[in-house]
Amino acid sequence: MSTIKRLELVAAIEQCRAVKSAAAELPGKSLTATLNKLLTGEFIAIHEYTGHYAVTKNLGYNKLAAGIKERLDDELKHANMLTYRIVFLGGDPTVDGKIDAEVGKTVPKQFELDKAKELGAVQDYNDAIQQAIKAGDAVTRAMLESIVKDEDDHVDEISTAQDQITQMGIGQYLVTQV
Ligand SMILES: [Fe+2]
Ligand SMILES: [Fe+2]
Repeated sequence: MSTIKRLELVAAIEQCRAVKSAAAELPGKSLTATLNKLLTGEFIAIHEYTGHYAVTKNLGYNKLAAGIKERLDDELKHANMLTYRIVFLGGDPTVDGKIDAEVGKTVPKQFELDKAKELGAVQDYNDAIQQAIKAGDAVTRAMLESIVKDEDDHVDEISTAQDQITQMGIGQYLVTQV
């Protein structure tokens, strides 16, 4: 191989290494920032569901409260998964924003608030999945896909309850929830 060809090869390898290391560093950092935003969303959902669980339990709507508790447990699991992943990627799990949520005093208001949060979560997780794909991080992608499936199920559960309320009226619906 000529000296010029050898130099061209070395330059090509170095360029390849530079592109690879830039790809390895940059998405990792922006991914942990995104995961922290998602973590904040989970804490807000935990805050909201804890409040809604307390209100419905206090009113004696035990079946309704049990459904809320299941969603609350899912959100706790998500917060745990995100925290582990952020630490694994070398980031610090932090709250990005204020943890605040309105607690609905009536059941229809609770469903309305919860559904808005869940639809927002589905959108945020889908966006984060696209980012994980771009970063070439298959493990983070798989984790986010499993979480968005749960959030999609939450939307479905709430929509079903809202449809039942529309069909049978709030009074009749609440009779089924004691
Ligand atoms: Fe969640
Ligand atoms: Fe959820």
